[in-house]
Amino acid sequence: MMNERILQLFADHPDEYLSGEELSRRLNCSRTAIWKHIESLRKEGYRFDAASRKGYKLLHRPERLQMAKLLNGLETTVMGQKLHIFDQLDSTQTMAHRLVAEGAPEGTLVIAEEQTAGRGRMGRKWHSPRGKGIYMSLVLKPRVPVFFTPQLTLLTAVAVCRAIRKFVGVDVGIKWPNDLLIAGKKVCGILLEISGDDERLKYVIAGIGISANLEPEDYSEELRKIATSLAIEKGEPIEREALIQAILKDFEELYQLYNEQGFAPIRMLWEALSVSLHKAIRVQSPAREWIEGIAESIDDTGALTVRTADGNRFRVFSGEVELR
Ligand code: BTN
Repeated sequence: MMNERILQLFADHPDEYLSGEELSRRLNCSRTAIWKHIESLRKEGYRFDAASRKGYKLLHRPERLQMAKLLNGLETTVMGQKLHIFDQLDSTQTMAHRLVAEGAPEGTLVIAEEQTAGRGRMGRKWHSPRGKGIYMSLVLKPRVPVFFTPQLTLLTAVAVCRAIRKFVGVDVGIKWPNDLLIAGKKVCGILLEISGDDERLKYVIAGIGISANLEPEDYSEELRKIATSLAIEKGEPIEREALIQAILKDFEELYQLYNEQGFAPIRMLWEALSVSLHKAIRVQSPAREWIEGIAESIDDTGALTVRTADGNRFRVFSGEVELR
């Protein structure tokens, strides 16, 4: 491909200007064609300086996840061992469902540099700019009943939360059921999609979206008020490969614990990381009704118990919590 050949020339001449004329001669195409390719590379996140007479100099390459780097340092036996990295997908969830249909085993991981139709909870979109975030979907085939799904949601949140705390060293907590917040701003969202019959789960796709290296200008005005990134909070970019490895390792450990001992230990870990428990909240159920009260506890199924002012208790299985 022409873009790759252009990049190769810049790699062979680091920090040098290459004139349009020279590029067009070496690649045997017109200068207009060169200009068009430079423009398309700019859209992919490459930055060039263009100086009259001198030509183009490559200033910045976009971050790219490296498959080899990821696999080399992976300390798991199952999670992420089958790895698919895509440059662009509509949604890693959709691709993961497709791979399962083709026989993908438990632990298969789908990652994309960019999503054009990233899915969020409750029908929302997930902002997925290229090269800046971690957009990934993990295939699970747990042998538990369908109504245990909320437990897996909480397990995923605990795994990601612990990995971020250890690896990035920021104070991140969980808002029920599975939003990760730093100082009240969302930094990670989790979406579980399942396939099953009345009794058993056939499989689960655990979708994880982390705002890793987004900068303030990557957010709309509106999002900036409610969202942040690990890089913004830490003050420097993070190495996405290493964080993914840390998450998979934590996930595998917790998943094993869950399969051996059930939900109780996961629930304790979740409670310790929660920022919403014992607080005054408002929760909107998927049926869009609001319940106001104190977030009291998480029960054995992973549901949230809310105590209202009149002393009644409600169990909420999914929905959206607002801290008051
Ligand atoms: C939320 O609404 O908080 C959940 C967001 C989940 C986003 C992730 S990004 C990777 C995976 N693919 C998707 O389309 N969505 C999830």
